[in-house]
Amino acid sequence: MSLIPVNEPLLPGRELEYVTDCIETGWISSAGKYIERFEREWAAYCGRKHGVAVANGTVALELAVSALNLPPGSEVILPSFTIVSCIEAVLRNGLRPVLVDCDPRTYCMDIHQVEKKISQKTSAIMPVHIYGHPVNMDGLLKIAQHHGLRIIEDAAEAHGAECLVSGTWRRCGSFGELSCFSFYANKNITTGEGGMVLTDDDELAERLRNRRNLCFGLKERFHHEDRGWNYRMTNLQAAIGCAQLENIARFVERKLEMAAQYNKRLSGLPLQLPYVEPWAKSSIWMYAVVLDESVPFDAFEFAQKMLDMGVQTRPFFKGLHEQPVYRNMGLFEGESFPITERIYRRGLYLPSGQAITDEQIAYVCKAVQHILI
Ligand SMILES: Cc1ncc(COP(=O)(O)O)c(C=O)c1O
Repeated sequence: MSLIPVNEPLLPGRELEYVTDCIETGWISSAGKYIERFEREWAAYCGRKHGVAVANGTVALELAVSALNLPPGSEVILPSFTIVSCIEAVLRNGLRPVLVDCDPRTYCMDIHQVEKKISQKTSAIMPVHIYGHPVNMDGLLKIAQHHGLRIIEDAAEAHGAECLVSGTWRRCGSFGELSCFSFYANKNITTGEGGMVLTDDDELAERLRNRRNLCFGLKERFHHEDRGWNYRMTNLQAAIGCAQLENIARFVERKLEMAAQYNKRLSGLPLQLPYVEPWAKSSIWMYAVVLDESVPFDAFEFAQKMLDMGVQTRPFFKGLHEQPVYRNMGLFEGESFPITERIYRRGLYLPSGQAITDEQIAYVCKAVQHILI
């Protein structure tokens, strides 16, 4: 029996042609025409002025937080239900993470809790659009503006998603001072490994470009006025990104078709299916489900049963407040976020890659039905 993978990328366009061009011309490192083109085109797609391509989404977040030069030790509010990349960006910049729980239907940060956690020490908020569903940015932008806080948007899972803000649909990746993306192989468009920071601010863009590239001197190359990293993306990766971007409308549409098929076939089962707010256009990056309390096993057992039937799934994030690594640092002691804790134990996502076929979706649904009925 062959396994249905949780994700398989699709490289159906000019990827090979563009990569071949890099190899034939020798532009295989971080200079080259595809880098500049991918930055320009991805920024334009998201409605931003500048794009700064980097090695992956994790360093995009770290670089973005660094670029804001926030007061050392100040607090950044972020969701507990997210990947460790988010908290690492905060900690590695000498800042303090403050967590909030998530909304039980969209799994995105609960903005009412954000407002309650704002203190004199708060300097920024990091909204994370989970599984392609946007955070309530209309509300969050108002809160940030009211309290004079900066926003670092983590749009790593939300390529092509949109959010209604002040009556206008805006793409995820266009909110706040800085927005971050990942182009890992399971994302709606991929460069293999890769990331990008977007901004409308000329000065921030300049700082991001410098720090991504070891802050080499402009007049004298090996003269350094600031500290930086080598977080560069290669022209080879950007070449794949340019080709992927030519097909993004089709990729996003396919995710919506996939979700519609799953919704139809899985309705009526003891599962919470993805919910989309009326003010949101989710890109359904991953088709996430949460077991009802009536189901007598948890998501880990469910995943094993699916695997036994030839279907790979992926568990939900374990909340940051439950991670031993941060608890051992003395963080989040006594803190509890019940929604995050519940969905971690009851949730997983089904195969959702670009390459999934209708037949595979039908088989996955049959497996779910077999296990749950
Ligand atoms: C919400 C979120 N932020 C950041 C990242 C980090 O991206 P990368 O894997 O490219 O480092 C991911 C990875 O999937 C993610 O899901």
